[in-house]
Amino acid sequence: MNPEHNQSTERPMSYYEQVGGAPTIRAVVEAFYPRVVEHPLLAPLFPEDIDPVMDKQEMFLTQYFGGPQLYTMKEGHPRMRARHIRFPITPDRATAWLSCMQQAMDEVIEDKMLREQMMERLAMTAYFFVNTDEQEADM
Ligand code: HEM
Repeated sequence: MNPEHNQSTERPMSYYEQVGGAPTIRAVVEAFYPRVVEHPLLAPLFPEDIDPVMDKQEMFLTQYFGGPQLYTMKEGHPRMRARHIRFPITPDRATAWLSCMQQAMDEVIEDKMLREQMMERLAMTAYFFVNTDEQEADM
């Protein structure tokens, strides 16, 4: 059997299903944010109480990777780039975000190929959120 196909429907399995669903997404979020709040480039952007951000990220990544539309049900249309506009996201910050996420995924998701595919998708999204160049950020 092809492990990437769901037996009953022959529909390709989502990343969400392939990594193990809700508990895995939660574990990724829990491995990710402690790194974000310790990162010198990222920490200043985040609120002291990180719990609500973690919950929203858990809902968002669930749907982003093909699981139930939890974020949209609770928060409305994601418009995620627009939601990030008020934060100065430089290319270096996108790289830092991805590096924290890479470490979180390395810790939680065993399948290297799956991790690589998920990181590739996230990389496109993260660089798409860049809204400030480095020089501007230094001013
Ligand atoms: C590119 C680098 C990124 C930076 C610097 C960044 C930074 C931030 C910051 C500062 C917040 C707001 C925290 C608050 O509530 O005050 C936030 C929220 C959020 N970010 Fe990012 N982010 C980045 C990339 C991403 C990516 C790639 C995703 C998803 C694939 C993402 C998903 C989210 C979600 C779901 C929220 C919560 C939105 C809400 O309030 O409803 N972020 N991010």
